[in-house]
Amino acid sequence: MGEVVDPSFIQSIEHRPNLAPIEAQGIPIIDLSPANSPTEALVAAIGEASEKWGFFQVINHGVPAETRRKLEWASREFFNLSKEEKLKVKRDELNPQGYYDAELTKNVRDWKEVFDFTTKEPTIIPNDSNFIHLVNRWPQQPPNFRKIFEEYAEEVEKLAYKLLELISLSLGLAKDRLNEFFSEKQTSYIRLNHYPPCPFPDQALGIGRHKDSGALTILAQDEVQGLEVKRKTDGEWIRVKSDVDAYIINIGDVLQVWSNHKYESVEHRVTVNTEKERFSMPFFFHPGHHVMVEPLDEMISEENPPKYKTYNWGKFFITRKRSNFIKLNVDNIQISQFKI
Ligand code: OGA
Ligand code: NI
Repeated sequence: MGEVVDPSFIQSIEHRPNLAPIEAQGIPIIDLSPANSPTEALVAAIGEASEKWGFFQVINHGVPAETRRKLEWASREFFNLSKEEKLKVKRDELNPQGYYDAELTKNVRDWKEVFDFTTKEPTIIPNDSNFIHLVNRWPQQPPNFRKIFEEYAEEVEKLAYKLLELISLSLGLAKDRLNEFFSEKQTSYIRLNHYPPCPFPDQALGIGRHKDSGALTILAQDEVQGLEVKRKTDGEWIRVKSDVDAYIINIGDVLQVWSNHKYESVEHRVTVNTEKERFSMPFFFHPGHHVMVEPLDEMISEENPPKYKTYNWGKFFITRKRSNFIKLNVDNIQISQFKI
């Protein structure tokens, strides 16, 4: 009663990004049940969603619910451990796979803790003068973590190929045109994200605005909403509805370049919540480190010359990973640097 409210507090609440989020009307939901013998309608739906939004959800995608639930459970169990226990599997500069807390890297912009695992072991990436070995750090708790992870990784990779083939067809290419880039030395990884409740949601984001740098991302989110996508038509942030059985798919930078900018990697971010913690699990589908990324021959012509210079995926990826450790106030390496 009679409390004095600090006016600057009111102002900050008024300006917080998620006061009245625009719900996800329009972000396509695509039924993948005919994916094994793709119909024209399915390919057209994938093409339209990729071009208009760069984001869509898929249902009937083939990943067994049980396999997903087990990893979701394991992720909760792991993040519930004491800090001391979690730090036993923390990442470091030599091997950037493992646990980290945004707080530890002094990255106060992102309100989250994460745990990264490559899906192929070993993942070795040549660096200028040496090799970076990405080695998974398996936690002791919960038990069977590794088995649960590997089962999930296998299933989600099948879905990734299914989507890659549909995307390829939607670009007018042969179904398996893009597969070769992944058949060797793939650098894909799965990240477990945990966004704890945040006491000042008007000042923090779970993840600040960014684009995913790989080919495509397959995201499992829980029932707590928070993911927002920048709508291409007007730049508004649109909240993606939660569906714990669906996957959220987004086009990454590599597909933007391969398609010579027909498809675009779209900005997204995660808002935080004062009461509820949130979990998510993206699978980042990444090509082999040796792949030289450039607009595909089929996507260029005299009228439509290449919009990007060629770059090496492994180098790009490592520069990105390492910049997480060193410079915090400088922007990460971006594909816009390769724009012609
Ligand atoms: C990411 C990401 C979204 C989410 O990890 O790159 O965009 O909902 N995650 O956690
Ligand atoms: Ni992302």
